[in-house]
Amino acid sequence: MERRGFLKLSGTTAAAIVVAPSLITETLKADDEGLYKTYDKIMLQDKEGKPLKSADLVKEENYVFNFPHVATPCILVKLDGEAKKGTKLKADDGTEYIFKGGVGKENDIVAYSAICPHQLTHPQPDTSFFQYVPTGTKTLAYDKAVGGVFVCSSHLSAFTPKDGGKRVTGPATEGLTQIVLEIDDNDVIWAVGALGPNKFHDYLKAFKKEFKKYYRNKRNAKKLVKKEAKVVTLKNFSKDIQQF
Ligand code: FES
Repeated sequence: MERRGFLKLSGTTAAAIVVAPSLITETLKADDEGLYKTYDKIMLQDKEGKPLKSADLVKEENYVFNFPHVATPCILVKLDGEAKKGTKLKADDGTEYIFKGGVGKENDIVAYSAICPHQLTHPQPDTSFFQYVPTGTKTLAYDKAVGGVFVCSSHLSAFTPKDGGKRVTGPATEGLTQIVLEIDDNDVIWAVGALGPNKFHDYLKAFKKEFKKYYRNKRNAKKLVKKEAKVVTLKNFSKDIQQF
């Protein structure tokens, strides 16, 4: 099957999702009480399978990879400035957690789960309504800043990546899940954990039909990514990017 930007499911490689927004109202299930869960360290790779280095990243580009599950999409961004650790955030159930900050020399590299906490909109190969909007680009979702925010254009929720993915407007009631990264001595980027309330459980439960289509079954979609995850730009991942 030939699809532009489709991350193929093969061996230990992370794969893409092809699912549509839907109306999901289940409550979140955090993976642990502290809202931080570590996973096996996953090395990020470029589209050619080479280790992805922080020096390779283009500022404010949207990069998509799947983590921690084979079918759960994330977006990695090198921001236009530091994402300082320390912002205090709160999940809907009252659990507090503290943003771990960006990585890299400028602490400006962050990643978040690209599953909108409102109704699970996420990037898909045909269309994406969820993305990071670079500074200088207007969005209907949030007029207090010009860009520099994650936006879900399904119902115009916005989240600030320098504040731990905090929700700043729209119907979403919680922030994005931070994907915690590390950079090794060779400048290679690794994904190591997820912080904050997450929608992995709801998402994996919701799109059974699509998982069957693209991963053969839900069990494959649900598997944890092993060893490495391919990273592609959102432009190469989705044929049609919608941003309002
Ligand atoms: S799904 Fe409604 S704002 Fe994202």
